[in-house]
Amino acid sequence: MSKKTLKVAIVGCGGIANGKHLPSLAKLSEVQLVAFCDIVEERAQKAAAEYGAEGAKVFTDYRELLKEELDAVHVCTPNDSHAEITVAALESGKHVMCEKPMAKTAEQARQMLDAAKRTGKKLSIAYQNRFRSDSLYLKQLCEDGELGDIYFGKALAIRRRAVPTWGVFLDEEKQGGGPLIDIGTHALDLTLWLMDNYEPKSVTGSVFHKLGSRENAANAFGPWNPEEFKVEDSAFGFITMKNGATIMLESSWALNVVETGEAKTLLCGTEGGADMKDGLRINGEKLSRLYETKIDLGAGGVAFFDGEEESDSVREARNWVEAILEDKEPLVKPEQALVVTEILEAIYTSARTGKTVYFD
Ligand SMILES: NC(=O)c1ccc[n+]([C@@H]2O[C@H](COP(=O)([O-])OP(=O)(O)OC[C@H]3O[C@@H](n4cnc5c(N)ncnc54)[C@H](O)[C@@H]3O)[C@@H](O)[C@H]2O)c1
Repeated sequence: MSKKTLKVAIVGCGGIANGKHLPSLAKLSEVQLVAFCDIVEERAQKAAAEYGAEGAKVFTDYRELLKEELDAVHVCTPNDSHAEITVAALESGKHVMCEKPMAKTAEQARQMLDAAKRTGKKLSIAYQNRFRSDSLYLKQLCEDGELGDIYFGKALAIRRRAVPTWGVFLDEEKQGGGPLIDIGTHALDLTLWLMDNYEPKSVTGSVFHKLGSRENAANAFGPWNPEEFKVEDSAFGFITMKNGATIMLESSWALNVVETGEAKTLLCGTEGGADMKDGLRINGEKLSRLYETKIDLGAGGVAFFDGEEESDSVREARNWVEAILEDKEPLVKPEQALVVTEILEAIYTSARTGKTVYFD
């Protein structure tokens, strides 16, 4: 990587900014975190104090922040403002890394993609699960043809009881939906990317509001407020692609099920299959016998040492920073994230209308 430094700003200094973007960017010597914005000023101040370069500025209005000289802006606000802030940032000449989902609606996601094309600035969406060791290894196997023609996939985002109770995750207006748009989006992104198939033909969906009305419910993040729970608690989709490949998407924050798994995929191809149920497992047939192979992605059994590999979050940040500095495409392309958004929206539409949605 060249020695140039990048001036980076964060809009939305909440959970994901502090949990992922800031600590990861802080590990990259090419990055200077120079501006922080949150409508709650103390949050921006706290992030600036912890991660900011000397003289870092704090804002409560992103439009003021965009007047600064910046290379890139990371959009880490709730879903309903992704499009507005991203388009404004691109139009003011900044590259944008926007949190997932790309936007609340497919129309907004299209506006974001159009703005990126119009301005010639880079846009990526923060699907960090692609950067996990198991995902990258499986991607290589898929590209090498080890699975053959992949014609069936399962995109899995199933929690038994883990409803996010902070922020605005239960607010339909601000988020555009519940587990489907929140965690189903990761699983679907991973599955489409591994299948390298972005041509949906039709989508049928079911959406449930079954457990959200419970008082004092068991929940990993503490009981939710049933009055606030306006989004679905689970959603399922049946997606057929133009080449006939089929994907089942399962997403839930609260479901009566014992086996859970989030941001996981299962793939079946003509030459082999793969799943992420318990680590990365490959299966197939050799010499007229069936086999299963477990891929060891660890450090080889050394105690107190997880290996020298970077975390998925740091890899994501590094890929993004290199894309800007070396004028390359980032791993997560906005065209791909748009298709994810279109499919998720079609699942909601199909559930609402009771009809299958067809893409032309
Ligand atoms: N990649 C992932 O795995 C992952 C995980 C969690 C959240 N997210 C995404 O990140 C986004 C934020 O989620 P979170 O958990 O950090 O929520 P959060 O509520 O913890 O943080 C959001 C922050 O944005 C601020 N904010 C709201 N509107 C703003 C505006 N117009 N301008 C400036 N600041 C504003 C809020 O005050 C808050 O501090 C969501 O889109 C969510 O889907 C992604």
